Amino acid sequence: MQDDRRILVVGGSAGIGASLVGHLGERCSFWSRSTAVDVSDPDELQRASHELLTREGPPFGLVHCVGDFVESPILSSDLELFDRLLQSNLRTAFMVARQLLPAMAAAGRGRVILFAAAGAGEPGAKTRAPLYFAAKAALLSMTRSLAMEVAGKGVTVNSISPGLINHEASDDSVHARLAKRVPLGRAGSLADVLPVIDLLLGDGGAYITGSDFVVDGGLSLRGGSGPSQEASLRGEQD
Ligand SMILES: NC(=O)c1ccc[n+]([C@@H]2O[C@H](COP(=O)([O-])OP(=O)(O)OC[C@H]3O[C@@H](n4cnc5c(N)ncnc54)[C@H](OP(=O)(O)O)[C@@H]3O)[C@@H](O)[C@H]2O)c1
Repeated sequence: MQDDRRILVVGGSAGIGASLVGHLGERCSFWSRSTAVDVSDPDELQRASHELLTREGPPFGLVHCVGDFVESPILSSDLELFDRLLQSNLRTAFMVARQLLPAMAAAGRGRVILFAAAGAGEPGAKTRAPLYFAAKAALLSMTRSLAMEVAGKGVTVNSISPGLINHEASDDSVHARLAKRVPLGRAGSLADVLPVIDLLLGDGGAYITGSDFVVDGGLSLRGGSGPSQEASLRGEQD
């Protein structure tokens, strides 16, 4: 990857985002609430975007890693939880895209990566985390629409849908147990996700847009993302 291709990771203080920040090194900057950029806050986001665009110009790569997960059946969920999950998983991606994509499109180049979840695009019911998966399904749809909107401007937009991915906040014992359900026989690691990001940010990704890359060791092959997969994702028994 060329060094002038700067990457912004939204949600880069933990998990997959933090790993990506470490992986990309100096050509990468990140936002998170721990760096005083809450992207669900329109004013904070606008200020941070203005600062970034003034200081560095539009990023080449924009990777959105924000996405809270909560298990709660629909009828047990209140409006506050609905709003939180839609905001964290969908609205923030929309808000960040609105702030930065026009400048990326004006520059005539760019790569956007959004994070969905394995199974979100499948038709089966998502009984344990229906609101989370509803938000991720909408995110998948938004990814494709956004890809069309900026395709003529040299900007690609794709999503990655992880399954069970270990990181520093994961519960090792739970993951070890649940990894048995993954057809490839183990939980995923950050090393399984990073090559896909590298592909999409690199020269090899130039002709890929509107696609979803499932990185789940085959977990979603078990059918939908109902209780079994959802339990697998967050460490609960069916
Ligand atoms: N890990 C998995 O197994 C898995 C599976 C399926 C899908 N996914 C999806 O993959 C993405 C990354 O997952 P992850 O496990 O790495 O997530 P994570 O560990 O929860 O990290 C999320 C990151 O987003 C930041 N963040 C949260 N709300 C924010 C806000 N309003 N403004 C700015 N930053 C915010 C967090 O930092 P602060 O708290 O400092 O803001 C953190 O850096 C998510 O979209 C998730 O839904 C993950």
